Amino acid sequence: MKSSWVFVRFLAVFLVFFSLIASMTVQGFTGTYGINYGRIADNIPSPDEVATLLRAAKIKNVRIYDADHSVLKAFSGTGLELVVGLPNGSVKNMSSSEDHAMSWVKENVQSFLPETQIRGIAVGNEVFGGGDSELWAALGGAVKNIYSAINKLHLADVVQITTAHSQAVFANSYPPSSCIFKDNIVQYMKPLLEFFAQIDSPFCLNAYPFLDYTYDPENIDINYALFQPTQGIYDPKTELHYDNMLDAQIDAAYAALADAGFKNMEVIVTETGWASNGDDSEAAATVDNARTYNYNLRKRLAKKKGTPFRPKRVVKGYVFAIFNENLKPGATSERNFGLFKPDGSIAYDIGFHGLVSSAADTSHLSLKDIRARGWPGSNILVSAFSAVALLLFLRIMNE
Ligand SMILES: *[C@@H]1O[C@H](CO)[C@@H](O)[C@H](O)[C@H]1NC(C)=O
Ligand SMILES: *[C@@H]1O[C@H](CO)[C@@H](O)[C@H](O)[C@H]1NC(C)=O
Repeated sequence: MKSSWVFVRFLAVFLVFFSLIASMTVQGFTGTYGINYGRIADNIPSPDEVATLLRAAKIKNVRIYDADHSVLKAFSGTGLELVVGLPNGSVKNMSSSEDHAMSWVKENVQSFLPETQIRGIAVGNEVFGGGDSELWAALGGAVKNIYSAINKLHLADVVQITTAHSQAVFANSYPPSSCIFKDNIVQYMKPLLEFFAQIDSPFCLNAYPFLDYTYDPENIDINYALFQPTQGIYDPKTELHYDNMLDAQIDAAYAALADAGFKNMEVIVTETGWASNGDDSEAAATVDNARTYNYNLRKRLAKKKGTPFRPKRVVKGYVFAIFNENLKPGATSERNFGLFKPDGSIAYDIGFHGLVSSAADTSHLSLKDIRARGWPGSNILVSAFSAVALLLFLRIMNE
């Protein structure tokens, strides 16, 4: 009897020790950091190469703006988790017919599961930020029809339905606690939020301190926008202090949600980033600033902390974007948000390795190294294992 207890104790200690080691090996993957894979370019690598690049960088969560089949095939079996997009141009069609929504979901989502880990569908992008009020009116119907299709196919536990909003949906976002939804969109936003609350979907926010700073460089301290040391801002109503603008933008969204009656809804940042080049009117778009923002953003997300107003809601964000998109219209900054160059090397050093080395990258990682290393372990398994080991350990030590 006694010797078996010694063995059990030994086993418990061993398990705890092993779990500590095991959880250390998955540190590279934070679970709060994802990336947007925009593809409006004619010079970027193939989807297969992109999958390899993302695995090398240990970025697991990826968003695309459509459901391009070459991407869905390339991501099959990679362990990468993907949110696909239903483009704006298809929103009215999906809203008009449940059957169309069902065909779309079958063709672009169901047929790729489970090998391609499609975890979400973003229905339209920044729809309320544009001027097409017919599209605003159609968004709710499209969301419902797509959800209904997912639900009928028994995929509601696997694939989450969302839509991303730009900051153009807000009024009075300074100080954060005064933020509300704009008058003219409230009648469309509220029913949408009601539906998302029912299906437990988060509020998806595209948040760009770069844009706020660019619009108002006289009144905003660039260090505040870049997560650099600064005196920050004080919100007199909540008596909260903000040391960076992204946290303030997220809390502004929480305030608007609370005002609209949705104080329990989570906010997720579906896009944020900083351009490394821009027009004369976009003087903050420099490589230095882009590096600073994106390096500090990684650090911020790796902390797995909430915001001043919602301290228990860990901030999760997708950076924009993997590559510069040379065919994007608009200001020069629009074509310069990439973290990686078309050849797979890094655009600037924020701690990721590229597939080939560049002047900005000191260490070289080849495709072969990455394949040999494989995917960095399953987080959930390790956590479950640690929990069981810890319980066992406590129980035994108590006896
Ligand atoms: C509407 O969606 C269905 C299903 O995806 C598709 O077959 C059809 O061509 C679409 N119609 C238009 C006008 O885009
Ligand atoms: C979708 O449409 C809105 C206008 O309603 C526009 O602001 C937004 O940029 C569009 N997004 C995409 C991905 O085309």
